[in-house]
Amino acid sequence: MVSEYPYVRLEDIGRYVGQKVLIKGWLRKMRSSGKILFLQVRDGSASIQAVVVKSEVTPEVFQAAKGLTQEAALQLVGLVREDQRSAGGYELTVCELEQLSPSVDYPITPKEHGTDFLMDHRHLWIRSARQHAILRIRAEIIRSMCEWLDGHGFLRVDSPILTPSACEGTSTLFETDYFDTKAYLTQSGQLYGEAAAMAFGKVYCFGPIFRAEKSKTRRHLTEFWMLEPEMAFTDLEGCLEVEEQMISHVVASVLRNRQPELKTLERDQSKLEVIKPPFPRLSYDEAVELLRSQGVDFQWGDDFGAPDETIISQQYDKPVFVHRYPCECKAFYMKPDPENPKLSLSCDTLAPEGYGEIVGGSQRIDDLALLEERIKSHNLPLEAYQWYLDLRRYGSVPHSGFGIGIERTVAWICGIEHVRETIPFARTMSRLNP
Ligand code: 4AD
Ligand code: MG
Repeated sequence: MVSEYPYVRLEDIGRYVGQKVLIKGWLRKMRSSGKILFLQVRDGSASIQAVVVKSEVTPEVFQAAKGLTQEAALQLVGLVREDQRSAGGYELTVCELEQLSPSVDYPITPKEHGTDFLMDHRHLWIRSARQHAILRIRAEIIRSMCEWLDGHGFLRVDSPILTPSACEGTSTLFETDYFDTKAYLTQSGQLYGEAAAMAFGKVYCFGPIFRAEKSKTRRHLTEFWMLEPEMAFTDLEGCLEVEEQMISHVVASVLRNRQPELKTLERDQSKLEVIKPPFPRLSYDEAVELLRSQGVDFQWGDDFGAPDETIISQQYDKPVFVHRYPCECKAFYMKPDPENPKLSLSCDTLAPEGYGEIVGGSQRIDDLALLEERIKSHNLPLEAYQWYLDLRRYGSVPHSGFGIGIERTVAWICGIEHVRETIPFARTMSRLNP
């Protein structure tokens, strides 16, 4: 089929009302009333109903359309019409159509499939309307995070993935051979982010994170993505202000730019519209009180588990900042609170609707002697951290930062149950395929 008509992607179709255009895509499904075929065509950017009327096309075109099966690749020429009743607001009246390649016995049919089956076919499942919507929202979340940071003086400085030492404890390290020594896949870019903050002031890194999580929960992956801002001359409160501004910008951007996707997911948007600064602040001690008042038998000094976070976050309609955790349950680099050195200047952000922790952050220890002592008391090899200690030897300043987990943020904003659907190809303890 040679076409003199403009090749248009469906997301731009509104600009071509009344014109004939060339569309290339795949068949999602087809309905027939004998003389009229209703094709649901998707092209990656959006989908549309294309109508083939037997009396208005050649017999060859009608036959070609009729023979299409689910996910066959096709191209067509059609007249763009506005149509209030259709989902996207437009419809195509087909003039020409050609199958480009067949699709025989597509495994994911409109009937119900189990999650394991769908995850085994993830390479195909990402074509479905729901998965498509989630991954488009994910892309918007990442885009708008970077947009906010780039617009507020932050420089993107990425961290290495192969590292010589741990950032978040040794129990979840993935080890790999590195010539005649060992390397670990990064658990967080933070330590390098701190070096970059001393070089550039305000920075962020963004990349994949690896943790050998033995937990099979709805919020744990072994490979996930984290965005980590780090700021020189910034205390914990300054850090929280950046966080609430950035997260609010992200939610507003999704509401503005991903309406069709939120509708596909049937997301209750009123829950997102209230996400604006300031976010409520609750100290660890207050959170423990709250849990106990709800009948939870909670031991002071422990970190919160997922059920505890659910109870706390359900009390608020915005993300809540839980700050000043006991030093004993947090990472080695967190600065003790000068007003009570048993507590750390740390903060976890718990998303509403029971989603729980999406961000971990803190002010960092800036004193050389204390940091050395903490590395030793956490049984970490001092030698491997000498470069990190240099940051306290040469012009140390107060600094803070946080890491936001992309998948948990996507799960919350999309309103979906499990993080496995928030990343294109999930990796968990029990899944390395496809
Ligand atoms: O709280 P975490 O462990 O914080 C850090 O790694 C800091 N070094 C970050 C920093 O200050 N620069 O992890 C941060 C976030 C969590 O709040 C969560 O959203 C996500 O990373 N996360 C996971 N997401 C999916 N699967 C896992 N196994 C995750 N572990 C952490
Ligand atoms: Mg954490």
